Amino acid sequence: MDIKSLTFSPPVIAHRGACAAAPENTLVAFRNAHALGFRWVEFDVMLSKDQEVVVFHDTDLLRITGNQGSVADYSYAELAAMDAGSWFSPKFAGEKIPRFQEVLLLLGQLGVSANIEIKATEIDTTLTVKKTLDILKKYGTHLPHLFISSFSMAILQEVRKDSAAWPLGLLIDEWHEDWQAHAEKLDYALIDVNQAILSPEIVAAIKATHRKVLAYTVNVAERAQELMTWGVDAIFSDCTPSIVSWVKSSAKMGR
Ligand code: G3P
Ligand code: MG
Repeated sequence: MDIKSLTFSPPVIAHRGACAAAPENTLVAFRNAHALGFRWVEFDVMLSKDQEVVVFHDTDLLRITGNQGSVADYSYAELAAMDAGSWFSPKFAGEKIPRFQEVLLLLGQLGVSANIEIKATEIDTTLTVKKTLDILKKYGTHLPHLFISSFSMAILQEVRKDSAAWPLGLLIDEWHEDWQAHAEKLDYALIDVNQAILSPEIVAAIKATHRKVLAYTVNVAERAQELMTWGVDAIFSDCTPSIVSWVKSSAKMGR
């Protein structure tokens, strides 16, 4: 794996697409990220009842579609009939929960890179990873860059079993001191940390192991700037107006 090829310019990964202005994890959110000038998006994947890989974040459907139960309780045909846009605004009524391959094809056309976050659900980890990688190998070949991340080390271990070549990112929400041992064992290229638990010392400690440090989720320009001065390689952002303006003014000033 050549981690030098993972570059972030602008240093922002559009979280669930640019989800401040469009319903998260939908095709319109990914188009929005591209239209705003972002070159990376992050999204979450999990399996439906009939083992389709779908792009969705929550453990249940209620917030986004108003339905009871989880993605794993429904076939993809049933999920596709749900409205994943109206909760955000009537303007987006009828937006669907997309299948993973639809998102990959769109990003390939747009020339946008992807961070694919594999969520742990009640469906078997080995099967989830296998199905995700099958789709990725078939439909992800036109993406400029990609990496796979998870909060679950079991998931990352399954991905690593498939190939030493996948760039992996470990998501850290609460600090665990043994991150480095895991990072070495599974050869993580990136450590993606909740910005609330980052400090200049932690950033320096990760950078000393020659890994990229990403921070989630940052929606205020001043905080993004501070994290950059600490050496963070990129932030995950919902792409709020504050972050969009920060990226534009940074580009103008040649930063
Ligand atoms: O990858 C950064 C971020 O997406 C992790 O948290 O809950 O938004 O998937 P979550
Ligand atoms: Mg995520």
